[in-house]
Amino acid sequence: MLEGLLVDLVPYGKRFLDQEHRWHNSEAWFWATAGEWVIVSRDAINRYRAEEAERRAERHNIPSVYFGIQTKDGKPLGDIAMNWVLPYHRLAMLGACISEPEYWGGGYGTDALLLILDYAFNWLDMHKIWLGTMDINERVKRQMIKVGFVLEARERSFHMVDGHGWVDGLLYGMLRDEWPGREAMINKLGLKART
Ligand SMILES: CC(C)(COP(=O)(O)OP(=O)(O)OC[C@H]1O[C@@H](n2cnc3c(N)ncnc32)[C@H](O)[C@@H]1OP(=O)(O)O)[C@@H](O)C(=O)NCCC(=O)NCCS
Repeated sequence: MLEGLLVDLVPYGKRFLDQEHRWHNSEAWFWATAGEWVIVSRDAINRYRAEEAERRAERHNIPSVYFGIQTKDGKPLGDIAMNWVLPYHRLAMLGACISEPEYWGGGYGTDALLLILDYAFNWLDMHKIWLGTMDINERVKRQMIKVGFVLEARERSFHMVDGHGWVDGLLYGMLRDEWPGREAMINKLGLKART
């Protein structure tokens, strides 16, 4: 368990899996999947989980590090993960979703991000962390800049976004040398525990 100020990162167990049907059919998933509005059945979610091992093998068992995000009093909020961890290159792709929209914009996602970055750089000795998003995702864009990621690439007309048409993709990256440490970032951002 990684303990933050507003959230903790914990194993993504049953309490989280039980929320997935609601989460995957909400606006959160539209943002997390970069623009898809789909209706997903419980069966489809269960099938996806069951087939995960096969997909992992197809991807040559590229590991991922997956956490549930929960409030300090234990309410499941979503997930944050390092997907596509490439140990030789010490490179990992981030993915995150606060799946309860009423918690957006309150610093919860950034608290989770600082925890996973600290874990990635200081515990796993990663060299670089990167993340892709769509150009209309203002919360992620703001979050990337305030935490010190560099905008490295614009993928032109990359996502077919329901209601928006073709939208550019953005790739952000942070190198280990650019990470000032969690305490420094907490101070810089003025992140505080809720009292
Ligand atoms: C992206 C996400 C993880 C960020 O977490 P969060 O808790 O909402 O982020 P924070 O509150 O720490 O920071 C968001 C920032 O965006 C700002 N923001 C919120 N809505 C905004 C808007 N419409 N336009 C511009 N900025 C906005 C907030 O004010 C905040 O900046 P501030 O700290 O300077 O005030 C979360 O919003 C989320 O999961 N969204 C849905 C799924 C998703 O988009 N996943 C990422 C896919 S790449």
